[in-house]
This record gives sequence, C-alpha cells and structure tokens, in this order.
Amino acid sequence: MADNEKIAIVTGAARGIGLEITRELLALGMTVVAVDLRDDLLGQMGGKLGSSGAKLDPRKLDVTSSEGFTALVDEVATKYGHVDVLVNNAGITRDGLLMRMEDADWDLVLKVNLTSAFYGTRAVSKYMVRQRGGSIVNMSSYSGLEGNRGQANYATSKAGLLGLTKTTAKELASKNVRCNAVCPGFIQTEMTDVLPQPAKDMALEQIPLKRFGQPADIAKAVAFLASDASGYITGQTLSVDGGMHT
Ligand code: NAI
Repeated sequence: MADNEKIAIVTGAARGIGLEITRELLALGMTVVAVDLRDDLLGQMGGKLGSSGAKLDPRKLDVTSSEGFTALVDEVATKYGHVDVLVNNAGITRDGLLMRMEDADWDLVLKVNLTSAFYGTRAVSKYMVRQRGGSIVNMSSYSGLEGNRGQANYATSKAGLLGLTKTTAKELASKNVRCNAVCPGFIQTEMTDVLPQPAKDMALEQIPLKRFGQPADIAKAVAFLASDASGYITGQTLSVDGGMHT
C-alpha cells in the first residue's frame, strides 16, 4: 500500500513530539488517528495543523487501558479496513532518586511508557500480520540506552521498549511487519521545559552538535521509519540526539 493510503495511529499525539509526528505523517498523506489522554489538547490539534489536518482523526484514550487500546485498534481497523502504522510515543516522567522512589511512581511510568506499547503492538499486529504489512515505531530514549541519574523508572521503561522492539521485529518480520525504535536525546518540549536551568546547561554541554533537539528532528526520523522509505529496516534503534550516543 502506498504511504498516502496508510492509516497511522500515534499515541501521545496532542502536543510536543507526538504533534510533530502527526504533522509529518499527514504530510506523507497518511490518515492519522491521534490518541491522547488530554481531550482539551486534542480539540486544539485541528487548529494547530491547519489545512494539513484534513485526514486527522483525534481520539481520547488512556493507553494504559488494555481493553481501551484494543477496542480503539479494532474500531480503527473496522472504520478504515486496515491499520498500517503504530507510533508508541505516549510517555511521562516521574523523576526521583532510586532510594526515595515511590512504588506508585515506578509502576505508573512503566505502565504508561512500556506496558501501553505492548498493548498497542499486540492489538495492531493481528491486523498487520493478516494484511502482510505494517510498521511499528517505539519512542525510546537516550536514557534507555545509557541510564540516567534520577530516572530509574523512566530509563528502565525506555530500555524495555528496546527489548519489545527487537522481539516484535523478529516475531513479525516474516509477515512483512517491521518494528524500530527512536532514541531522542534532549528535545525542547513541555516535558523538558520544566527542568531547572542548571540541568539544562549540563545537558547542553554533553551534546556534540551543541543545540537541543526540536520535536521536528524526531518526527522526521519517525516518519522515515513509518514509511516505505525504510522498507528494509527492522529491529533497529535510531538515536536522534545531536551525537550523544555513538
Ligand atoms: P509531552 O509531555 O510534551 O507529550 C506527551 C503526550 O503524551 C501528552 O500530550 C500527554 O497528554 C500524552 N500522554 C501521557 N500519558 C498518556 C496516557 N496514559 N495515554 C495517552 N496519552 C498520554 O512529551 P514529549 O517531550 O513530546 O515526549 C514524547 C515522547 O518522547 C515520550 O515517550 C518521551 O518519553 C519521549 N522522549 C522525550 C524526550 C524529550 O527530551 N522531550 C527525550 C527522549 C524521549
């Protein structure tokens, strides 16, 4: 199927990196089912995307709901007849040093960042295997590759996504279903805007390209992995981090 006929589901789509991914996939001509917890932000997406948002289909969903995620995928497959791309982008942080980290903060981050991707992958794979084609992109992180002080929960969830990515790639390759991961470095979004200035200064020093990434930098890599341009690439981890991880 040509890229401009594809149906894509993007989670955490209402702002930040997810919004830019939505923009890039729409630019390829895909229909984008934009999933987010925040219906206030979902409602603003059409305005932010302007005329390029004609093939936007916003849906409120908490991706930590196994039943909810499965029902959404079934509904999308019924409505459009196929599901071609899933981008597991929804993610949160609940940072804190390991010794003081609460069980609830561990559990929630693992559930939103990692378990939800399993729910979504399982749900779409049924359709992708049947239609003999599909691309799944998981939003991991530099923290998942390297670990990060104060992010035991987050780094673990992002490292777990790499295991899920490689396993999905191996299990589904014979059915022409691909799965890859993107590892952003430090990207300027509302997630990172809240960090104290000294933490931002320290992060900047570690970036060889000497600038923070923009959501569009990540979105372009995701669009490549979602589209036919990357048709012979599966099970890979693509760092988009200004050269931090080599
Ligand atoms: P953001 O906080 O700006 O956007 C995340 C979106 O996910 C929000 O719209 C939020 O409402 C949604 N979301 C959160 N929990 C949800 C749930 N349970 N169900 C449905 N939607 C939910 O974050 P940002 O910066 O755009 O990050 C996107 C992804 O990129 C995340 O997975 C994050 O971990 C990852 N990432 C971000 C980096 C950065 O520097 N900003 C660096 C590395 C990875």
